[in-house]
Amino acid sequence: MSAGVQTNRLTTRDIRAMARSGEKIAMLTAYDHVTAGLVDQAGVEIILVGDSLGNVVLGHETTLSVTLADMIRHAGAVYRGTERAMVVCDLPFGTATDPETALRNAIAVLQQTGCQAVKIEGGEAAAPIVARLVGQGIPVVGHIGLTPQAVHQLGGYYRHGKDAPAAQELIAAAHKLQSAGAFAIVLEFVVPELAAEITRSLEIPTIGIGSGDECSGQVLVINDLIGLNVEPVPSFAKPKADVAAIIRRVVSEYVAEVKANPPAMDS
Ligand code: KIV
Repeated sequence: MSAGVQTNRLTTRDIRAMARSGEKIAMLTAYDHVTAGLVDQAGVEIILVGDSLGNVVLGHETTLSVTLADMIRHAGAVYRGTERAMVVCDLPFGTATDPETALRNAIAVLQQTGCQAVKIEGGEAAAPIVARLVGQGIPVVGHIGLTPQAVHQLGGYYRHGKDAPAAQELIAAAHKLQSAGAFAIVLEFVVPELAAEITRSLEIPTIGIGSGDECSGQVLVINDLIGLNVEPVPSFAKPKADVAAIIRRVVSEYVAEVKANPPAMDS
């Protein structure tokens, strides 16, 4: 049997090797073809088509409104814009409620987008779901700590793992997800010391967001990195540019130029 077309795209093996060698993993979200291409060219190893799509691109208040069709449309565009990065697609709210539902939806994502892996939010309860997908050859990234799909259950967006029982629960969840076969785990808005402890105790890499510097890698929403927002950014985001200001300036110059050249009026 032919080995198929060989590409330079990074795989789960590369990500594992990076973690083993101590090289930090750079992960960033993207939601469209052009941005994904630029992020890829800049050397990001994992592009996440996050369901933050809902807030950032589609203007929803939470990620709960994002559908599988939304994710598939954007993930396909991202994948087609990239050559090297591994592309991971979030399974949105309500699409990974049990192992069979998650498997069906993950298959749709991989078949219709080209993405290599899915990310699933949830602690210990997500472990059997992860195991089912991994058993079918689908790589999975776990996601614990602040899980925005559970915002109504959590009662808001805040730092996780602040007391001993909460810390123990996160440690246990991380290990269950590792045992279930997740190849990496996102730690969102977790107490930095706890994120460091979880990272040291796992064999698979952790990817932190707002969880300190000692995770195996970092992830951010691209808009929060480049300052492309009209609404307030999370407290842990420190934009490194002000792309929103550039857009406002260039567009207002364009408006002024257009208005400075009114059409000639017939006399
Ligand atoms: O949806 C998303 O962008 C995410 C990251 C913030 C980790 O899950």
